[in-house]
Amino acid sequence: MANNGNKRLDRRKFISKSAMTGIGIGVGIPSILKAAESSHNYAGPLTTNMSEKRKLGTLEVSPIGLGCMSMTSGSYNPPRKMEDMVPVIQGAFDMGVTFFDTAEVYGPFTDEEIVGEALQPIRNEVVIASKLGFKFVNGQRAGRDSRPENIKKAVEGMLKRLKTDRIDLLYLHRADPNVPIEEVAGAVKDLIKEGKVVHFGLSEVSPDTIRKAHAEQTVSALQSEYSVIERVMEYKILDTCEELGIGFVPWGPVVRGFMGDRFNEFTRFSDDSRFNSVHYFTPEAIQQHMKVLDLVRKWGDSKGLSPAQFALAWLLAQKPFIVPIPGTTRLHHMRENWGATAATFTTSELKEFREELEKIDLIGVRTPDTVLTDR
Ligand SMILES: NC(=O)c1ccc[n+]([C@@H]2O[C@H](COP(=O)([O-])OP(=O)(O)OC[C@H]3O[C@@H](n4cnc5c(N)ncnc54)[C@H](OP(=O)(O)O)[C@@H]3O)[C@@H](O)[C@H]2O)c1
Repeated sequence: MANNGNKRLDRRKFISKSAMTGIGIGVGIPSILKAAESSHNYAGPLTTNMSEKRKLGTLEVSPIGLGCMSMTSGSYNPPRKMEDMVPVIQGAFDMGVTFFDTAEVYGPFTDEEIVGEALQPIRNEVVIASKLGFKFVNGQRAGRDSRPENIKKAVEGMLKRLKTDRIDLLYLHRADPNVPIEEVAGAVKDLIKEGKVVHFGLSEVSPDTIRKAHAEQTVSALQSEYSVIERVMEYKILDTCEELGIGFVPWGPVVRGFMGDRFNEFTRFSDDSRFNSVHYFTPEAIQQHMKVLDLVRKWGDSKGLSPAQFALAWLLAQKPFIVPIPGTTRLHHMRENWGATAATFTTSELKEFREELEKIDLIGVRTPDTVLTDR
């Protein structure tokens, strides 16, 4: 395995520097990460066959999944209609996608209904992943709640909406500071014994939380943001997953559409747009990150890949246990994204691309210290 020894970063020095300057998404001030700081001492990629099925722990899935969040959540677009989304999900399956991602909070609730409706006819041929851990008041999200009784109650509703007798991969969506992770893992363990859940996953948690949970109940997958721009997971998280045999599922893998030419330096969001809260999408940051898009486009052109395809293929090439879940509401985007699985890289290509990538300073991305606590 290649090791970026020459790009090594003194982690303690960097963390204390981040703490001193107060940069990072946690405090709401966009950070500027210099090239050397963005490498996070990452051990480097592997070349691997990217079209084969992959393992998240012992759970076998297609190399790319379908993220279903924006079908109803209204995060990046107005909610879509069930009758328009069912063909997208079923069309993805026809292409070879067997891994579908949703959550109780998307909608809330309605996203699981769409996924359940679409997958019912092919239930035994697919892997359904969903997430919980929130409280709802009058049908709206109202804070976190990971108490075992809430988890067990939530799963009953999820099974109904998903039209199934089991959730193949149940993630804790966000850690609840009021509930020890061991209690969450214990509740999921009970659900696994009852056959209502098959595998356990976590999202956006620290290495410490991963270890504590895994000691109580095997964790099959961690789902956290990772892309060609937001690379903070290369600091301690991917290594932890590798050591413990846990799969990694990057959300935001096409940078929320940025790799699909959705924005450029002239883009301005309306006041109510959720993109306003994305620190790497300020006007200044987008202008800077066009350099990443240009680099990805240059490399994609040389390999016959679109930027979105290259961005996904690059993630697949980092580790064999990585399974990106690009979100889309359009079948032609799913087809494009699935095309990433046909890409190949040599070791020297991956090294050269990373060297070029790390020369570009990033704005508004997370600093390494932020992965050491749960989000
Ligand atoms: N665990 C968590 O906390 C968490 C957080 C966020 C998301 N997620 C999950 O991860 C999935 C993916 O993350 P994400 O949706 O935030 O980000 P993403 O996959 O990077 O980007 C999704 C956006 O990109 C657009 N897009 C996708 N493929 C494209 C292509 N080939 N060309 C042009 N545009 C394209 C989509 O628009 P169109 O609909 O127009 O294609 C959509 O608005 C979600 O669906 C959700 O299931 C999890």
